[in-house]
Amino acid sequence: MGTIWFPVLYLLLAITSSLAELQETHLLQHKQASIRLDIYHDHGPATSHNLTSKHKTPIFFSDVLLRNEERVKALHSRLVNKSSSSSLVASKKAGVPLKLKSISIPLNPAFSIGSGNYYVKIGLGTPTKYYTMILDTGSSFCWLQCRPCISCHTQIDPLFDPSKSKTYKTLSCHTSQCSSVKDATFNNPSCDAKSSNACEYTASYSDTSQSQGYLSQDLLTLTPFQTLPGFVYGCGKNNLGMFGTSDGIVGLAQHQLSMLSQLSPKYGSVFSYCLPTVSSGRGGFLSIGNLSLAMPNISTAYRFTPMLSDSAAPNLYFLRLTAITVAGRRLEVSPASYRVPTVMDTGTIITRLPESVYTALREAFVNVMSKRYAQAPAYSILDACFKGSLHNMPVVPEIQMIFRGAANLTLKTPNVLIDGVKGITCLAFASSGSTTNQIAIIGNHQQQTFSVAYDVSNSRIGFAADGCH
Ligand SMILES: *[C@@H]1O[C@H](CO)[C@@H](O)[C@H](O)[C@H]1NC(C)=O
Ligand SMILES: *[C@@H]1O[C@H](CO)[C@@H](O)[C@H](O)[C@H]1NC(C)=O
Ligand SMILES: *[C@@H]1O[C@H](CO)[C@@H](O)[C@H](O)[C@H]1NC(C)=O
Ligand SMILES: *[C@@H]1O[C@H](CO)[C@@H](O)[C@H](O)[C@H]1NC(C)=O
Ligand SMILES: *[C@@H]1O[C@H](CO)[C@@H](O)[C@H](O)[C@H]1NC(C)=O
Repeated sequence: MGTIWFPVLYLLLAITSSLAELQETHLLQHKQASIRLDIYHDHGPATSHNLTSKHKTPIFFSDVLLRNEERVKALHSRLVNKSSSSSLVASKKAGVPLKLKSISIPLNPAFSIGSGNYYVKIGLGTPTKYYTMILDTGSSFCWLQCRPCISCHTQIDPLFDPSKSKTYKTLSCHTSQCSSVKDATFNNPSCDAKSSNACEYTASYSDTSQSQGYLSQDLLTLTPFQTLPGFVYGCGKNNLGMFGTSDGIVGLAQHQLSMLSQLSPKYGSVFSYCLPTVSSGRGGFLSIGNLSLAMPNISTAYRFTPMLSDSAAPNLYFLRLTAITVAGRRLEVSPASYRVPTVMDTGTIITRLPESVYTALREAFVNVMSKRYAQAPAYSILDACFKGSLHNMPVVPEIQMIFRGAANLTLKTPNVLIDGVKGITCLAFASSGSTTNQIAIIGNHQQQTFSVAYDVSNSRIGFAADGCH
């Protein structure tokens, strides 16, 4: 079987150091406007900047899907093993150390830049330097690789050097932030007695991926006029695993250490984003703050569904799918089939559905498609494939994902299909597995080009079509 090569090209923001000086005098006066950052995809086309060749690692798409499957498995085991998580809550109250085995695998936010992820650039330190960070709605903790490094992977930008930032500070293990590290990283922090009781975090992402280092504080710069002094994050000196060439991870889930929570006193507990398609690579944004719901082109078009929570993963964002239509016809599955924990995740590529729902979707879709296009063998986790490339498939049945309330995702052809190997195009959905406890994940391929709003204050999630501008 053939493979596609994706040249990994990065778009980088041009940031001049003179802006860093401006910011210091102006930023505190600019309260409450929402923050807007550009979002890029790791396979997007290069426009203004080229990276050196060492960063242009070729990636096999089948590998990308397989690695992404690890994230899905981790999420699955975290959400379906509810009994172990309730005992976790009980043991936390009793001060007993966490049972790492049952909970230490959050999402694998990692499988990197280079694996279907989206990223943003954030500024850190004084003077401000900019870093390329994976954007992750599936985790809360923020960290980046730091000097002096025991184990660091090759990253896009120069390593963060705390000794060069005059606003950098290590947090001691007696601080409240250190106490909250456990719930954000799933591991107890430790106290480094040799280094003035510095708080040491360990963020585990799977059996093999983790970041470990000092809990730190520094000035966060999002735009030259929007900053947050004392931003809490991990300065990772020991980073092992599949983090690609990103500098670190920005967690946007709901724990108090997430970037969203830290910004919310000033901007409100709301954010929105639009993930650009891989081929256009343009128009993606992350907007944080109350005003992010009032973006000119999309304010009237948001339609909302209630934001749900799940005790197994209180920091993640859940919603409820109620129906799926293919070419206007509802799938014939019982409404109960949709009642599983359904999580919004920027780090999963392909949407996962409970097996009975996926089987019905696949059948309905293949039924219509096979009248026009020849079927092809399965590709990786995708098992509804057709001969031909996406560009040569003008007539594809529309799929609508309908959520509780008024919201839906009316998917366009590029959200429905994905190019597999050369000349083969597949339905971009998969089953979450055949166990009795099932989950669903709304992946990034289906979210592309929609504006997605997380109005945490009002517990609702909104979608608006054509959101990338
Ligand atoms: C990036 O590389 C491409 C092809 O190698 C070249 O055409 C383009 O001019 C380069 N862009 C910049 C900004 O250097
Ligand atoms: C989840 O629970 C099942 C059985 O209850 C167990 O076999 C499995 O190992 C658990 N998974 C994790 C990640 O703890
Ligand atoms: C954001 O809006 C919520 C209500 O929707 C309000 O309670 C909060 O004070 C606002 N926050 C800011 C920073 O404006
Ligand atoms: C609104 O959308 C139009 C095209 O649809 C675009 O030209 C314009 O720049 C957008 N405005 C904003 C503020 O994003
Ligand atoms: C889906 O949302 C669009 C607006 O985004 C709306 O026009 C359409 O009626 C909705 N469809 C359903 C079935 O609710």
